[in-house]
Amino acid sequence: MPAHDVHSYSNPAESRVRHVELDLAVSFSDKKLRGAVTLSLEPAGKTLVLDTRDLTIQRVNGSSSGFRLGERDKNLGAPLTIDLPAGARSVLVEYETAPTASGLQWLDPAQTAGKQHPFLFSQSQAIHARSWIPLQDSPGVRVTYSARIHAPLPLKALMSARRVRDGHFHLAQPIPPYLIALAVGDLEFQAVSQRCGIWAEPSMLKSAAHEFEDVEKMVQAAEGLYGPYRWGRYDLLVLPPSFPFGGMENPCLTFATPTVIAGDKSLVSLVAHELAHSWSGNLVTNATWSDFWLNEGFTTYIERRIQEALYGRKRSEMEFAIETGELTLEMKGLPAEDQKLAVNLDGRDPDDGMTQVPYVKGALMLRLLEEKYGRAKFDTWVKSYFDHFAFQSITTEQFLTYLHATFPGEQLGAWISQPGLPPDAPKVTYDFESTPKKSWATQEWLHWLRQMPVDLSAAKMAALDAEWGFTQSGNSEISAQWLLMAIRARYEPAFGKLEQFLIGVGRRKFVKPLYEELARTPGGKTRAQAIYRKARPGYHPITQATVDTILK
Ligand code: BES
Ligand code: ZN
Repeated sequence: MPAHDVHSYSNPAESRVRHVELDLAVSFSDKKLRGAVTLSLEPAGKTLVLDTRDLTIQRVNGSSSGFRLGERDKNLGAPLTIDLPAGARSVLVEYETAPTASGLQWLDPAQTAGKQHPFLFSQSQAIHARSWIPLQDSPGVRVTYSARIHAPLPLKALMSARRVRDGHFHLAQPIPPYLIALAVGDLEFQAVSQRCGIWAEPSMLKSAAHEFEDVEKMVQAAEGLYGPYRWGRYDLLVLPPSFPFGGMENPCLTFATPTVIAGDKSLVSLVAHELAHSWSGNLVTNATWSDFWLNEGFTTYIERRIQEALYGRKRSEMEFAIETGELTLEMKGLPAEDQKLAVNLDGRDPDDGMTQVPYVKGALMLRLLEEKYGRAKFDTWVKSYFDHFAFQSITTEQFLTYLHATFPGEQLGAWISQPGLPPDAPKVTYDFESTPKKSWATQEWLHWLRQMPVDLSAAKMAALDAEWGFTQSGNSEISAQWLLMAIRARYEPAFGKLEQFLIGVGRRKFVKPLYEELARTPGGKTRAQAIYRKARPGYHPITQATVDTILK
């Protein structure tokens, strides 16, 4: 029986969706998906309750007395209740999406690299699948799926599944609904190995394939640690710059922001991260969004292990040190509740739980276990954890019970239900060089910039800029850090770049702190609002919601 999920209206204990069959047409002219979904049920009780958000339901087939669409909740959307006849095995729902669907972004040609064709992509995690498919949108309700997508030529449709042939998809492994994904655009493919390759707009393909050329080695490193990769292909899709996240672990096809293509592979730990989710997250899944750290803490830990295997311990420790610094800084401003690994998200949007806490505090806790019991023993346990819970969605409680079977008496209460970092937290240290040089990795520049005084003068900024050309940097991480400092120092020469960056890039992690920093002064806020008026139409609904709150 699935754990109770406060972010879903669905009733899987009574009627449970097992397979989702989609038949959808993609209409760019009115920004709608339209068609039908057939849901196979087992068991099927008297009623079936689905999650929806801003869907227009045209018809339900297989119901005994029609359907009722409940009231819309701001966070959860609206329940769709369908009465089932005795012996029901499936229902068919005919529907269309709203142009404002929170899980879809419709891009004009101008927002793509090629500028010729429109683009569509989905982002279902955490609870946005319901805005483009009526289903039981809870990570505890795993489904297999198949799909037929009608997209206008010459555009290509891709999904988080095996591509049976053009426009036809099938995923035989049961997944949580937040992993159902779709992208449609002018996309081409380049193979990296037998099972790995890159999808991107034609003009991006070569640089992307070069940046990500180590992906097969990463899969092999992860397999060496945690057992076979169970999803067939592992491909990467490079999205336009409005993609609101760094990456998304959609099965068979990780979605990635183009802002990780730095030219020097310095940001490819993102690939290690999304790949790691093939074990932690996609194979063993958080049962509710309060257990999100099970997905992201394990994944951040494994990301480090993959990096270590490919690029050495020094490199992985450097990145861990940067992340630990980000965690400590962020926790200073977080309410106590949000500093716990298991968070209470009742009445909240689960997207709000996305801080560094589940990621880095989670990874530090696993690192503690590794150091305490030794790598060999801990690795064996982690592998057995993935095998034991494969294709299941589990709670923090279940994790603890399974841990205690091998490591009896292990006390993790302070990590899981107390704020801050416990005294036994591992210290991740890295000896950063202090004299900059051209050959520095992105992370070394970030560290160097971040340790500067917060009250740098515009004159000092100008001197740094003259020496290192930060305003002109093509590296998104360095740009974001530099622009933050430019706002603080009121360093005017960087403000043109700031506007260009905020209009061109919609990755939430970058734009959020920049608007926040601008909003700290009255003059800055006016400037932020002027930029946002131009930038907002190009942002994804998730990024729009975040910036709306900052500038309201
Ligand atoms: N699964 C997450 C993205 C996510 C989390 C989307 C919660 C919606 C709700 C993904 O694996 C992730 O963590 N992405 C990070 C990059 C990573 C290298 C830390 C991101 O996008 O910043
Ligand atoms: Zn992740």
